[in-house]
Amino acid sequence: MRSVTSDTVTQTFVDLMAPDTSPRLRFVLERLAAHLHDFARETELTHEEWRTGIELLTKAAKITTPERNEFVLFSDVLGLSSLVDMIHSPQDATNSSVLGPFHITGAPDLPVGGDLKGDNDGDTVLVEGFVKNRAGEPIEGAALEIWQTADNGLYSNQDAAQPDYNLRARQVTGPDGRYAFTTIRPAPYTVPDDGPVGTLLHATGRHPWRPSHLHFIVEAAGYRTLVTEVFPDDDAYLDADAVFGVREDLIMQYQMRTDASTIAPDIAARDRMSNPYYVVDFDFILAEAPE
Ligand code: BEZ
Ligand code: FE
Repeated sequence: MRSVTSDTVTQTFVDLMAPDTSPRLRFVLERLAAHLHDFARETELTHEEWRTGIELLTKAAKITTPERNEFVLFSDVLGLSSLVDMIHSPQDATNSSVLGPFHITGAPDLPVGGDLKGDNDGDTVLVEGFVKNRAGEPIEGAALEIWQTADNGLYSNQDAAQPDYNLRARQVTGPDGRYAFTTIRPAPYTVPDDGPVGTLLHATGRHPWRPSHLHFIVEAAGYRTLVTEVFPDDDAYLDADAVFGVREDLIMQYQMRTDASTIAPDIAARDRMSNPYYVVDFDFILAEAPE
């Protein structure tokens, strides 16, 4: 170890780990060091470039709070968060997608058919569907957490003008696995770009926009918890999401309807639906939890 060279530094790093290091930690760190060292060799990274990277990370640390985690945002805009999602999305189940920083716990319960729109401006949308397993059977007792922006593109915890828990709810499916709620169309919005992530985006000519989406966490006993988002097929940013969250199976349609008499009787806002209104029909497919 006395004389480390650019050829031996990676193995020297590996050899420093104690023999009782957990095998998984050893493997992940070994590969991380190997790729980082190869990256520096391949790019012939200069001192100035390395310092710029460290400065961005230092700024990320300074700006990070419980409400805003700039490191997660770096992972998001670099495509790493989405890559981890894609690597672990089980076959034949609904794909997962980024959680994002705007989820909060404790959303109020909403019965199946309940209304989230309340006094919010925007088109009325009935979002409904089923939670199923991979065999197509309905899952009773699945809990869905739902959160979305108002039509100004802001979540309730970003906007003092919105009531606490505005456009957020938790809903539990009945024996038929069905969920349903009325709401408004969320709006596209930008990820925070006033920090070092913004510096990176602007330096590379990238915009900070995300297509509009509805967030869901779907949980059921015996199944893997699904963290995902659903995007409309007509959104201008569908093919240009700043955080790479869109997957083919997460695309839905706003279907325009003019006849409110076809709405199921358990939809609480049935008699208050504006015409036209929109329907989103989207099923979630959960994979069984690993043994
Ligand atoms: C979101 O969808 O809420 C989000 C995801 C990643 C970064 C910023 C926001
Ligand atoms: Fe979001």
